[in-house]
Amino acid sequence: MADSPVTINPPGGGNPSENGPSPQEQKQMEQAYAQMKRKMAMEEIGRKIKHKIMVLSGKGGVGKSTVSTGLALSLAQQGHKVGILDIDITGPNVPKMMGLDGRRLHVENKRIHPAEGHLGVKVISMAFLLDDEDTPVVWRGPIKLGAIQQFIGDVEWGQLDYLVIDFPPGTSDEPLTVAQSLPDIDGMVIVTTPQQVALLDSRKSITFSESLKVPVLGVVENMSGFTISGTAQPGTDISVGAPGGKTLSTTAGEDGAFSFTLDIFKEGGGKATAEEFGVPFLGALPFDPGFVRGGDDGVHRIVSEPEGASAQAFAKVVDAIQGQLNQGGSSGLEIV
Ligand SMILES: Nc1ncnc2c1ncn2[C@@H]1O[C@H](COP(=O)(O)OP(=O)(O)O)[C@@H](O)[C@H]1O
Ligand SMILES: [Mg+2]
Repeated sequence: MADSPVTINPPGGGNPSENGPSPQEQKQMEQAYAQMKRKMAMEEIGRKIKHKIMVLSGKGGVGKSTVSTGLALSLAQQGHKVGILDIDITGPNVPKMMGLDGRRLHVENKRIHPAEGHLGVKVISMAFLLDDEDTPVVWRGPIKLGAIQQFIGDVEWGQLDYLVIDFPPGTSDEPLTVAQSLPDIDGMVIVTTPQQVALLDSRKSITFSESLKVPVLGVVENMSGFTISGTAQPGTDISVGAPGGKTLSTTAGEDGAFSFTLDIFKEGGGKATAEEFGVPFLGALPFDPGFVRGGDDGVHRIVSEPEGASAQAFAKVVDAIQGQLNQGGSSGLEIV
């Protein structure tokens, strides 16, 4: 659908009704014009946004949206101008995590304006289109992908240092549409949990990443370990029984502080996956119930505890991503 109908006169300025294009041709020209305009808009957006990072995972519930919002907030903590594009139409929960629950699309002068979430992060979400967030939208493929293209072309992001793009789980059409529409995507971050044999561990996924023509920046392991801390008499030996018949032991420090890190899932899946496929391991994020609370009350963990262990873990992952970006986003799995 053309967003700004145009009338195109035939060469020589003749009267379109006499020897000009037929109504059908006129419509085709208008469509081509609208498409060209959108393409130019996308190229301009591509230029105005320094780094574009896709966040993907093989399956749902591994914390992709938690990681997308966490990365965006961590980058914003560093003073960068950041945006998040939430493409997940079936379960868009980015607005909630960014304190923007219930927002609707804001359109001005035919341009879509992002909402401003925590730490000034600009947010565009498919959820802004929904009348009722509890009813998932079932859009036919072409309509959904058209809406994504429009989202990318028509959003007034302004100048951004980073745009983080959150997707639905798996190897769906959405990442392909984004990769084809938005120029110069730096790369993708793959989120996995420790026990999951990640996205890359299937021929299908590899074919998928190849077709995207986007390099892999690396793998992040989410819900990595759960840390329990406390205090006791300095020097006290402490041991606790952990699930699976394991015993965790430690000694309280000089100040009496002690902590255990419990691997709720199996250990090291993210690192193993990264090694297996020759892509960088970007770091691990702890299991932190604060993320769940943040998802419910709209205050992201990084906002409620800007100096906390989770915020620090995110800062390390951000450092690793920036390291990859400085190397031109190259990785063992550079896609051609
Ligand atoms: N590191 C974590 N520690 C604890 N809970 C987490 C963590 N990461 C995500 N969660 C929780 O897991 C659930 C799924 O996370 P979400 O980010 O929505 O996953 P996805 O986008 O992959 O479907 C949410 O309830 C979220 O709060
Ligand atoms: Mg999600």
